[in-house]
Amino acid sequence: MSKHDLRPKAPQVLDMLQRPLRDLRISLTDHCNFRCVYCMPKAVFGTRYHFVDHAGLLSFAEIERLVRLFAQLGVGKLRLTGGEPLLRPHIEDLIEQLAAVPGIEDIALTTNGSLLTAAKAKTLKNAGLRRITVSLDSLRDETYRAMNDVGFPVAKVLAAIEHAAAEGLPVKLNMVVRRGLNDDDILAMAEHFRHTPHVLRFIEYMDVGNMNGWQPEDVVPSREIIARIGERWPLDPLEPSRYGEVASRYAYRDGAGEVGFISSVSQPFCRTCTRARLSPEGALYTCLFGTTGKDLRALLRGGAGDDEILATLQKVWGTREDRYSELRGLLRARGSGEKVEMFHIGG
Ligand code: GTP
Ligand code: 5AD
Ligand code: SF4
Ligand code: SF4
Repeated sequence: MSKHDLRPKAPQVLDMLQRPLRDLRISLTDHCNFRCVYCMPKAVFGTRYHFVDHAGLLSFAEIERLVRLFAQLGVGKLRLTGGEPLLRPHIEDLIEQLAAVPGIEDIALTTNGSLLTAAKAKTLKNAGLRRITVSLDSLRDETYRAMNDVGFPVAKVLAAIEHAAAEGLPVKLNMVVRRGLNDDDILAMAEHFRHTPHVLRFIEYMDVGNMNGWQPEDVVPSREIIARIGERWPLDPLEPSRYGEVASRYAYRDGAGEVGFISSVSQPFCRTCTRARLSPEGALYTCLFGTTGKDLRALLRGGAGDDEILATLQKVWGTREDRYSELRGLLRARGSGEKVEMFHIGG
């Protein structure tokens, strides 16, 4: 299949809206050394908040077993996330195991970059990591420190990005834009990453979880960001590179590279959502805004055979109807129950 063929590959399991299962996002821990104001506000997630303990986490062997089964259902892309996934010791051992699973073509990692030393970047690459996404909300040290709320300096994350690039890992940057907080950093961010191979993506701030106090007015719609950037450096839209891509891609007309816009609030992309999510304790969610997950750990630890687990995965995906972002207004008005938190299920 050519890179530009946007049809899904022959699907093996379709949900109620005919969407195939293609990606699995694995949250390795709900611990994080940051307290980003839009994700784990300190007032709520202080030191006494109860996170999943070690015994409760899926082991690497359990994760690998599940990935083998997901791969049989058509999953080819994995993303390791958290919390902060690099807090999980020896994550490279897991990457090595997952890279060897038949059918797995791509393994990416989303990290805040704080623990990404040159040595770690090398170890991850050697283990089979293909791509890395670093969260970076501002280049201004003061704003960056205020957003991570633990005073972590931006210079260290910029160094981490270069460590990853030096290992040949393609790098994407995620900037969550929240009005009044970092929207005045948009042009500086764009300028910084122009003429680099790194791809900056602007993300509309979302109402994930229950604690971030999201208000529609906090969202800076992508069309506004595109206009602001385009006024300075004209942009041309690019074709999606594959079915179900979440970012709309644009190229700078002057040849300075590419930027992306993730518009989950203003232009939801549920129609082509092929992503399942596994929580650190082994619950399977079929939407970032899910309220309940299917407990796969109970199956794994209760001695279930592969066939039983496969049948469960097929049933969960086959009965999936999620499209939260498309129904946001309606579901918020209705009050749709406690949603899973972003740091628990991953971005
Ligand atoms: P690749 O294409 O594999 O590089 O990854 P990606 O484009 O999916 O990007 P990434 O995984 O870094 O996701 C970027 C951001 O998009 C996340 O942090 C979320 O904010 C948002 N996002 C990703 N997937 C979903 C989704 O299924 N639903 C919604 N509403 N937002 C999503
Ligand atoms: N809205 C949009 N994106 C978010 N992320 C975390 N919280 C939110 C939110 N409320 C993104 C961060 C990070 C990834 C893990 O999830 O940018 O890159
Ligand atoms: Fe910030 Fe990511 Fe940690 Fe959430 S999980 S607090 S977005 S670094
Ligand atoms: Fe997929 Fe749910 Fe996001 Fe829609 S809101 S794109 S269904 S994860």
